[in-house]
Amino acid sequence: MRIIFTDTYKKMSEEAAKIIAGQLWIKPNSVLGLATGSTPVELYQNLVWLYKTVGLDFSQATSFNLDEYVGLAEDDPQSYHRFMHENLFDHVNIRKDHVFFPNGLTADSVAEGERYEATITAAGGIDMQLLGIGRNAHIGFNEPANAFTRMTHKVALKESTIAANARFFASQDDVPREAMSMGIGTIFRARHIVLLASGAEKAEAVRDAVMGAITPTVPASILQLHPSVTLIVDQEAGTLLKAEKSDS
Ligand code: PGA
Repeated sequence: MRIIFTDTYKKMSEEAAKIIAGQLWIKPNSVLGLATGSTPVELYQNLVWLYKTVGLDFSQATSFNLDEYVGLAEDDPQSYHRFMHENLFDHVNIRKDHVFFPNGLTADSVAEGERYEATITAAGGIDMQLLGIGRNAHIGFNEPANAFTRMTHKVALKESTIAANARFFASQDDVPREAMSMGIGTIFRARHIVLLASGAEKAEAVRDAVMGAITPTVPASILQLHPSVTLIVDQEAGTLLKAEKSDS
């Protein structure tokens, strides 16, 4: 795993944008796996800026989002579909028929998981997967569990995740209790993975993911086994990695 230490959220976002832009320049028809949440917002602003100023080209790119809430329509203000359009897709030249999400309104989550996996495979697999990390080290909505999930599937969100995501909703009661998420296996099959972490509340999750045991109770720990992971941390999220580094 390559770790890039940065001082600030701004710098973390700039470094991440360089890597994603580099991927698109090297391979314009890249298949990207993209993430929602607070962490990638400024990264997406940087990508929009690169599109507008130096012509970063998304016209041949394809995107698969990590997850979507169950029960929210595409145009719901809190849907991840809407988030991605507002933060990135509406501002760059990606084709709207090249962006994919798990369908959170499906009546058959197993069939929907299979459909999503098949769509990813048909697109050639994910070249570069962007990830945030939860305070409990979840990736996508793969919460701490007894086993690593393999495929896109329906998940019940942990109370801690519901509480963390309540800031985007009018009240905690409004946060959906379930989501459709890529599995750990789906994420792991990406050729390159870029993991972002910002803020002190992520420091323990980052330390456990990078230096702890590889266990499904720390879902991000599986990334220790992946051949091409770049972790970008800001100062606060990287604090415990640095403490371990200087102690050793
Ligand atoms: P955040 O979420 O970027 O909003 O902190 C990350 C995650 O839960 O994966």
